[in-house]
Amino acid sequence: PRCLALLPCAGSGSRAGTGLPKQYQPLAGRPLVRHTLAALTAVPRIARVLVVVAPGDARLSNLGAPVEVRACGGATRAESVFNGLGWLLAAGAAPADWVLVHDAARCLVTPAQIETLIDACWSDPVGGLLALPLADTLKRAEGGRVAATLEREGSWLAQTPQMFRLGALHAALAAHAGSGFAGITDEASAIEAAGQRPLLVRGSAHNLKVTYPEDFALAEAILRSRAA
Ligand code: C5P
Repeated sequence: PRCLALLPCAGSGSRAGTGLPKQYQPLAGRPLVRHTLAALTAVPRIARVLVVVAPGDARLSNLGAPVEVRACGGATRAESVFNGLGWLLAAGAAPADWVLVHDAARCLVTPAQIETLIDACWSDPVGGLLALPLADTLKRAEGGRVAATLEREGSWLAQTPQMFRLGALHAALAAHAGSGFAGITDEASAIEAAGQRPLLVRGSAHNLKVTYPEDFALAEAILRSRAA
């Protein structure tokens, strides 16, 4: 099998606090998604990278092989991923190929972390995801007050990339297309709903998803620390 990557990049990024979607906001001198793409294309085993942007979005073009851009983004992240997987299958990718789905907004992922995931999952029957054991205590809220303290022991924070077989992931997501992908917040949750148990591969706290305005300064500080 080959190893492909799919980058959902079709969000409106409303929590980042500006009109420009966060994946296009400048970070250390270039659009955020360019950092993400640099990490993915630095992994020799990834044969092809598909970026899924919103319909009509022409901001990423002429990126050159192995990166392709398709404006088939959907209303939710899961729908954008589902559409991208369908496009890959229609364009000749094999159902047995591995696909690494990675948030455009996780621009600090390193080639080494991606390699660690590929090494851990390559011979696995299911596939898996980068994740991190929870360090903080987890509260469930009701009306702005704590309703319960949840079990921290054994809880992990899911990151991306998440690596599954192309055909299996497409089928797992297809089962939720009718419900608008309700409850499907990552690829693993679709695989779990199909009865499988994805492998947890320890990632890094620096693989953060840029979401809020204050995340940009943090991300730039991490990039600076690497350049030093
Ligand atoms: O909004 P959130 O941080 O969960 O988005 C995660 C990733 O999914 C981002 O890279 C965003 O561009 C992408 N996304 C998408 N299509 C959507 C919503 C989000 O590709 N409809």
